[in-house]
Amino acid sequence: MPTVQEIRRASAGDEPLTMLTAYDAPTASIVDAAGIDVILVGDSVGNAMLGYDSTLPVTLEEIESHTGAVVRATEDALVVADMPFLSYGTTEGEGIENAGRLVKEAGANAVKLESGPHTVDLTERLVQLGIPVMAHLGLTPQRRNQMGYVRQGTTDAAAAEIRDLARRHEAAGAFSLVLEHVPADLAADVTADLDIPVIGIGAGPETDGQVLVVTDVIGLSDSSPPFAEQFGDVRGEMEAAVDAFREAVEDGDFP
Ligand code: KIV
Repeated sequence: MPTVQEIRRASAGDEPLTMLTAYDAPTASIVDAAGIDVILVGDSVGNAMLGYDSTLPVTLEEIESHTGAVVRATEDALVVADMPFLSYGTTEGEGIENAGRLVKEAGANAVKLESGPHTVDLTERLVQLGIPVMAHLGLTPQRRNQMGYVRQGTTDAAAAEIRDLARRHEAAGAFSLVLEHVPADLAADVTADLDIPVIGIGAGPETDGQVLVVTDVIGLSDSSPPFAEQFGDVRGEMEAAVDAFREAVEDGDFP
């Protein structure tokens, strides 16, 4: 397993960092064996696996349970657990306690926070306590009721705010930054501004790494964001297997 320091140094390396989400043991073992650097137990589990129509209902207990499954199946990748909506940012104590549960009880190596001005101090405190933090700026889906699900950082003022928050989270000790759905030139600027690796999603090719939601990548999602790319057809494979089973039973060929 790489340490967060090794991931942190990756921004100086030649090879882009790879990060995928996973939410269960079989998927985590496939992602891990493929040599993906970081596995994110994202709160996207809400849409991808739990049938919610957003990430907002996801609970700490759900993230804890999925993180445990991923950790048990992972040998090499760094496992980052996403802190769900309102599990941080209310009081510092609650944020620390909940991040602590994901590391101490579920076995995550680090936590990710959807970041803003309210997470700078918490990031610093968690890092002081030994909990590595991945920051997340740009489109932050836990704020969908305020920002919608649209590209962020498209005005000069909004871009400047993202650059400022990125620097402040680096100074607070974050070991990496996810930058979601922002213009490619802004992502390139943020990547140049920071020493820690910037991992982009819908943020163009100039970041230090790329992340996608695994169900989009393998072709299992019902619907995907415009910037996702499908590299397989697992839904098609599953449909064919389930049809084959039904037909075999109905035709008397199985067992
Ligand atoms: O929850 C998630 O999957 C994420 C990624 C899209 C970065 O936050």
